[in-house]
Amino acid sequence: MSSCPFLALSERLRLTGRKKPLPLAQSAETFLRLLKSEKGAPSPSQARFQEVAQTIRKTGTYSLTYPELSYGCRLAWRKSVRCVGRFFWSKLDVLDARHARTEEDIYHGCLHHLEHATHHGDIRSTVTVFPPADSQGRGPRIWNYQLSRYAGYQINKKQILGDPAEVEFTQNCLRLGWKPPKKRTPFDLLPIIISLPGKKPRLFPPPKKATQEVFIRHPDSTCLNSLSLRWVALPVVSNMRLEIGGISFPASPFSGWYMETEIGARNFADEDRYNLLPEIARRLRLDTSRPATLWKDRALVELNRAVLHSFTQAKVRMIDHHSATASHLRFEEDEAKLGRPVHGRWDWLIPPLSGSLTKLWNRSYNPTEFSPNFLHQKRPY
Ligand code: ARG
Repeated sequence: MSSCPFLALSERLRLTGRKKPLPLAQSAETFLRLLKSEKGAPSPSQARFQEVAQTIRKTGTYSLTYPELSYGCRLAWRKSVRCVGRFFWSKLDVLDARHARTEEDIYHGCLHHLEHATHHGDIRSTVTVFPPADSQGRGPRIWNYQLSRYAGYQINKKQILGDPAEVEFTQNCLRLGWKPPKKRTPFDLLPIIISLPGKKPRLFPPPKKATQEVFIRHPDSTCLNSLSLRWVALPVVSNMRLEIGGISFPASPFSGWYMETEIGARNFADEDRYNLLPEIARRLRLDTSRPATLWKDRALVELNRAVLHSFTQAKVRMIDHHSATASHLRFEEDEAKLGRPVHGRWDWLIPPLSGSLTKLWNRSYNPTEFSPNFLHQKRPY
């Protein structure tokens, strides 16, 4: 027996650097003990511990009760080392779709997620949990990185129309028979691809009705209008695996609200994404003759102002990078008061704009990941 039970518990929950996963019975017991140790969590009875151990012995697996699943999802968010939005971890809507059987069921669960979470702009943090993987790790998969994303069409060796990050996925859709709009644009919503274990992937129509979009305009100039920029209101990451108590959910789309830099400083600004800074600078009549005029930096700020302004005008919830990082610091303080360590990835928590102006700049983080969590998994294509 270890002399320090807390250390033993956290050691068993560690995911980083573990060669093989713990046996299911151990992961399950550890998760139940974690729930028992947390104020505000559903506290499993001694009978529940026994029931889970017995079910695993008899059937090789077990299923989480809704309260266990629901709190497990919140913990998975709270332990997500890349997420700067974790101050809000305890407010998460957990949609239980573990009964979904067919690809259609899963598609409809995805549409329901989009509508529930978007909530006409008053965004609710949401996760939808589809059936778990079997003992060989096979389960339902959503092939999309996010439920609502724009196609990237490879026009020729050098030219791409739309989102370059989606070129490979778009090719998959076309191969599976997707008919894109007659007139292709840089903002065509992609279809959703769903597969069940041992079955061919199936293609479902782009979630047009369920996807709210925001048109991007600059607050004090019309110079961006004719670019017809837009972005989706809700980022729903759908390619990660949720792990709770040794059970894996390979299809478990989750979403919060956007921080403006995700769109303004990355999706629109990265050279290997929409690469809009040169065009924005031209429209703002900035001197682009040399890097030292800081035209990129100036264009970047204006683009981010436009994104924030447009979401606010459209009444779609969004957070700016100063407020988001300040909220993360409060999260760290709240956790410290409860004696819980906060782990993080500095390179993800620091925003891609004005990093040194934020409250997190001079802090350092331990990047070790613990269970429950959202994890990367192998691409199905
Ligand atoms: N960075 C991704 C995007 O630009 C979204 C990742 C999740 N973001 C969030 N705010 N929950 O689409």
